[in-house]
Amino acid sequence: MLTVKDKKFVSFIDKHQIETRIAQLSREISEDYRHKNPLFIVVLNGAFMFASDLMKNVSIPCEITFVRVSSYSKTTSTGELTEVLGLKEPIQNRHVIIVEDIVDTGLTMNKLLFQLSIHKPDSIQVATLLFKPAALKTPLSVKYVGFEIENRFVVGYGLDYDGYGRNTDSIYVLAD
Ligand code: IMP
Repeated sequence: MLTVKDKKFVSFIDKHQIETRIAQLSREISEDYRHKNPLFIVVLNGAFMFASDLMKNVSIPCEITFVRVSSYSKTTSTGELTEVLGLKEPIQNRHVIIVEDIVDTGLTMNKLLFQLSIHKPDSIQVATLLFKPAALKTPLSVKYVGFEIENRFVVGYGLDYDGYGRNTDSIYVLAD
């Protein structure tokens, strides 16, 4: 049992399951990107722990950088826009892998993919630790998925509830 602010969470995915799955993903990525010198773009804050463990197991030459995605509303029909903050590396002609903690509705990832594709990378793929297929609101291709989970709220291992609960080595789900 874990309490984060006013909510109670129970164990969901333990440390060993996470370690084993991430090692598999790292191997897969290392094979797929051999000789491609990929650039990993890690989405802060949630993906910091996943990215750290993933990168320890990636055995090919690669670069890693970090971005933040900020949403802001504009009073136009386009609604909410997404801005990518902190990307200094040119991504043109690079093989990019976006590293995310969780894809829920997929709207954030969709906008991020759009923003990055403007710069004409050679390829872009997504590596997410968690994926909630039932929550998806937009077509999205996610190549590397740690765990597909039900549409329930989770915390831990980098993921937060209102800024708290990131600092655990396993993942917890909101208690019923
Ligand atoms: P999306 O745009 O709905 O896919 O949401 C993406 C972002 O929402 C993620 O990067 C997380 O920051 C947050 N999020 C979605 N579901 C959860 C959850 O179950 N726990 C914690 N954060 C979540």
